[in-house]
Amino acid sequence: MCGIVGYVGKKPAQDILLSGLKRLEYRGYDSAGIATLDSEGEAKLARSVGKISELSKVLDEAPQDGNLGIGHTRWATHGGVTETNAHPHHVGRIYLVHNGIIENFKELREELKGYKFASDTDTEVLAALIDSNYKDGTSLKDAVAKSLKRVRGTYGIAVFSPSEPGAIIVARLGSPLIIGLGKDETLIASDASALLGYTREAIYLNDGELAVCTRDGADVFSLDLKHLSVKPETIEGDVEQIQKGGYDHFLLKEIMDQATTLHDTLSGRIKPDAGKMHLGGPNLTEEEMRNIHHVVIVGCGTAYYAGLLASYYMEQLVPDLTTEVVVASEYRYRSFHLPKDSVALIVSQSGETADTLACLREIKKRGVKTLGIVNVVGSTIAREVDGGTYVHVGPEISVASTKAFTAQVITMLMFAGMLAEYHGGDPKLLAEFTRELAILPEEIKKTLDTYRPEMEKLAKKYAKFDHALYLGRDTAYPIALEGALKLKEISYIHAEGYASGELKHGPIALVDDRFFEVFTILDNWLFDKACGGLHEVRARGGKTIVLTNSKADIEADDIVRIDSPIKLLTPLLLNTLQQLFAYYVAVDRGNDVDQPRNLAKSVTVE
Ligand code: AGP
Repeated sequence: MCGIVGYVGKKPAQDILLSGLKRLEYRGYDSAGIATLDSEGEAKLARSVGKISELSKVLDEAPQDGNLGIGHTRWATHGGVTETNAHPHHVGRIYLVHNGIIENFKELREELKGYKFASDTDTEVLAALIDSNYKDGTSLKDAVAKSLKRVRGTYGIAVFSPSEPGAIIVARLGSPLIIGLGKDETLIASDASALLGYTREAIYLNDGELAVCTRDGADVFSLDLKHLSVKPETIEGDVEQIQKGGYDHFLLKEIMDQATTLHDTLSGRIKPDAGKMHLGGPNLTEEEMRNIHHVVIVGCGTAYYAGLLASYYMEQLVPDLTTEVVVASEYRYRSFHLPKDSVALIVSQSGETADTLACLREIKKRGVKTLGIVNVVGSTIAREVDGGTYVHVGPEISVASTKAFTAQVITMLMFAGMLAEYHGGDPKLLAEFTRELAILPEEIKKTLDTYRPEMEKLAKKYAKFDHALYLGRDTAYPIALEGALKLKEISYIHAEGYASGELKHGPIALVDDRFFEVFTILDNWLFDKACGGLHEVRARGGKTIVLTNSKADIEADDIVRIDSPIKLLTPLLLNTLQQLFAYYVAVDRGNDVDQPRNLAKSVTVE
């Protein structure tokens, strides 16, 4: 959701800005633009609606010189998707790009009487505010700091002015901003993936900080203009991770890569011979571990479903534990109470989701320890939690989350495995989970390789339907929810997930020839009950697909049976089939698989 890039150095800025913006495409956007400053001190601006390729066409017609510039991909919030609303915004002597929302922009616009506004955006108002404070004798840095003190809301910004060539001012409050430090060049990005391949050294700006970036580096200040001494950090990852590696889409690459990425998630964290799991990040003492009796898991979308599945496993492993899984956008506004013996798991691939971050802050206010289950290293959630564990699956570029889901579940499972040791958990069960975790990457690989052609065929058969129901019981229930989410977000087929025991309480009324039903049926003690729902749907003429690890007789229109020594973690294997299914349905329908309409990779505003 919205992306910022910036460059000041010796190379042509236009190309670096465009390639940075391309790397941020996955975040979701509907317009893009760049502004550059040439050696004569002349600034140029180019903006366009649609993809970066449209912006490139504009720049092919009228290339922009200069070794300094800023760029932006915009996901519309205030004002429609138009070229005038796209960033950068130019007001007076100011060029500005902005992520976030200025909540008091109407009030500020009223005050800025001398300005005529071309767009409907809050960002243009901020540009005017900075310009109004940028009087003779005031530096751009001081004008930005003064203006930001008037602002209510969130921002990550990059600003330059032809009056101070050679410098870009950046600042953040609630929206990430990273400064990459290279040799004779400084890069700016809202997401570290735009910096990969240029430099490994970076400053992650904190909320309430501002920096002056020149080609020699960056000076960081508080909004009160106190100089801060900041230690650069190392950016993880490499360029290969943000390329498709021979696959048609990032989504397929990320699904197929799971075997490898899960190795990284598990590495050094399980001891199958001893039947033990260990995460270093939670940083809890033995006494603190013993005192935990309540776990609240917070997330949005796929991260929420990962939490839901993990909660089943936690309850199995830790006999005296109560778990609660909550949707962040709701929880943040509830009058919730948490017992003193609670710990909160904050689950987020991006580490930037606004609602999840707000919950983290609310929970911290209540004095409860927070642990992050996060993928993006250095992200805001990762920095604000008391402790936690990175899931380490590398960049997830496709908007639909796949490999992060699997890794989030197993990371929370490993946390449960640690808790189990302090809470009288069954050592045999713990050993069994550990054994299954150890073979999970290989089993996922086998499952994906074996069933990929079958899932492609199945997808072609069902791609023409308008509606789908996903049903599951027990640990297959969260998988049903996740399967439906995946299908709807990339194929645009209307899909709902339900606990199959809920069928008779409403959804069965929907069964007709416009629908198909996907049942995930596990070979466990609830097998017969799980089949009950299937029979009911078939009796009403429903078209059914069954994903199962059972060898028993099952009647359905299509059955995909996996054969694996994995039992407890079967939902994770079957979920990878659902991921392939959704992918191939979306391809068959000719959709933009990696950047589905209306969606953003990380939802940084409410
Ligand atoms: C997943 O496919 C979705 N695009 C979405 O539900 C996502 O999981 C959700 O927005 C949470 O994102 P996060 O993990 O980055 O916090």
